[in-house]
Amino acid sequence: MSAPGRKPVIAGNWKLFKTSAEAAAMLRDLRPRVSMIHDVEIVVCPPFTAIAAAAQALAGSNVQVGGQDLYWESQGAFTGEVSGPMLAELGCRWVVVGHSERRQLFGETDEAVHRKLVAAIAAGLSPIACVGETLAEREAGRTLEVVGRQIQGALGGLSGDQMKRLVVAYEPVWAIGTGKVATPAQAEEVHAAIRARAAELHGAAVAGALRILYGGSVKPDNVKELMAQEDVDGALVGGASLQAESFAAIVRWRG
Ligand code: 13P
Repeated sequence: MSAPGRKPVIAGNWKLFKTSAEAAAMLRDLRPRVSMIHDVEIVVCPPFTAIAAAAQALAGSNVQVGGQDLYWESQGAFTGEVSGPMLAELGCRWVVVGHSERRQLFGETDEAVHRKLVAAIAAGLSPIACVGETLAEREAGRTLEVVGRQIQGALGGLSGDQMKRLVVAYEPVWAIGTGKVATPAQAEEVHAAIRARAAELHGAAVAGALRILYGGSVKPDNVKELMAQEDVDGALVGGASLQAESFAAIVRWRG
């Protein structure tokens, strides 16, 4: 269970799902289901085109909005990109950075992830920095080495103040969208290693306050045992975040 001072975060990453109208309808359904939950930060990350409608549907609620990516420049000749200030203007408080789908399908490097984290924080957003190993890397016994390298690449060189704004999400690639959730022990092993690496980079106090989310086939029926782990401070949810009922059940894992 999350230590005192680490308020749990349950974030929904909608990926390439939902138009503005679909987003607004889902969030009108979600709002009353989670309105009594104040000890969890609740976040939804719709596609860029649905962010304005989502922010409007959530105005005055305890559910926050985030983007799924950003570019590190604020403006310029970068066709197709969206910047941190643009997300902030729409009401975003959060942004996912370095998701494995962006790394694998769109060629994002550790260096790009680092630049995006810096830009997100400069724009006043809280980035959710994603790391995680592939099945081949896990089977080769390289999980902690790979995740350690990603943590170093993403978080190395950030200041203590920048670190306070950021959360990490451990998402094993083999668990994303596959229904194969990491066991609580597998998640805890990597989360503890991430916190240890963060302590080497930024000191024990910063690492102790760092929130580390688990992602990969989180569902209403497995969230409780994951959240019971000492270094699991929340969840980044894909498929089960698309319906109000299942996302609310995850947000309300305590029962
Ligand atoms: P699933 O919950 O659908 O496995 O997706 C996890 C994920 O990638 C969240 O960012």
